[in-house]
Amino acid sequence: METGRASKTAFRVAMRRAIHQILDQPCVLVDPIAVPLLGPHFTFDREREMSPLARAFRAFMAARSRFAEDRLADAVASGGTQYAVLGAGLDTFAYRNPFPNLRIFEVDFPATQEWKRSLLVEAAIPVPGSLTFVPLDFEHKTLAAGLAESGFDLGASAFFGWLGVVPYLTRDAFRATLQAIAQLPAGSGACFDYALSPESMSPLRRRAFETLAARVAAAGEPFHLFFTPDELEAELRSAGFHTIGFADSDDLNSLYFDNRSDGLKLPPEGLGMMASAWV
Ligand SMILES: C[S@@+](CC[C@H](N)C(=O)[O-])C[C@H]1O[C@@H](n2cnc3c(N)ncnc32)[C@H](O)[C@@H]1O
Repeated sequence: METGRASKTAFRVAMRRAIHQILDQPCVLVDPIAVPLLGPHFTFDREREMSPLARAFRAFMAARSRFAEDRLADAVASGGTQYAVLGAGLDTFAYRNPFPNLRIFEVDFPATQEWKRSLLVEAAIPVPGSLTFVPLDFEHKTLAAGLAESGFDLGASAFFGWLGVVPYLTRDAFRATLQAIAQLPAGSGACFDYALSPESMSPLRRRAFETLAARVAAAGEPFHLFFTPDELEAELRSAGFHTIGFADSDDLNSLYFDNRSDGLKLPPEGLGMMASAWV
C-alpha cells in the first residue's frame, strides 16, 4: 500500500463494525464509538448489507476485534498495563477503554493516523490522556524503535492487537515486528489474524478468499503474506513465543455466535484465522 495515503481498508472494516451495531442484535462487539467516529461518512444500503457475504464479513470483523479485546482482558487480569494497537486504523478501543490503569499506543501509517485524528475532531470524540499516537511504517522502521520514542516502557509487559494488518506486510516486516514483541518481558502477548495460504484451501474457501483478496487489491492494498497454521507456529516459536493458540471459524462461532435468533455467524469456509501468542 502507498505510505502517503490513508488506508481504504481501514475505512471498510470500521464501516462493517459500525453496521454491526445497527443491524445485528445482540452485538458481538459492543462499540458505542463505531458509528459516531464515522460521522457523515456512515451511510449504508440495508438490503445489500443483509446479503450472506456482507453478513459473513461483518461477523468476522466484529468477532476478531472481540477476540483480541478478550485476550487483552486476560493480559490486564494478569497485571498488564500497556496495550499497543498495531495498524490501528479506526479501531475505537482507546476511546471506550474500561481499564483505568491501561496505557494505549496506536501505531499506524502516518497518513492513516492523521485521517483518523481528523475524524475524531469532526466527531468531537476526545483523545484520552492514556492514549499515545505512534506514527510508523512497519516496512521502514522497527516497532521497537517506534515504541522506544513514544514513551512505551520496554521494561514492562505489553499486549498487542494486530488486526487486519499481517496479510499486507512483507515477511521481513512481519518477523521484525514479532521479534520486537517477543523481546518484551514475560506476560507479553499478541493477537492477530492471518491469511491461510490459498493453495492449502478447499475450493469453497478459496472462492471466498479470492473475493476478499480482489476487493483489497482493488483498494490498492493487496495481500502479500500467507501461512499455514504449522508455518505460522514455527515463525512464532522461532521469534521466541512460548504459548501459542489458534482460533478458526468454528472456534469463533462457538465462542460468539451460538444460539442467535438472527443466525449471524461465520461461514464454514472461513474468512480469516486468529492467532494469539505469549512470551
Ligand atoms: C484493514 S486495516 C485494519 C485497521 C484496524 N486494525 C481495524 O481492525 O480496524 C489495515 C491497517 O494496517 C495499516 N497498515 C498496513 N500496512 C502498514 C505498515 N506497513 N505500517 C503501518 N501500518 C500499516 C493501515 O494503515 C491500516 O490502518
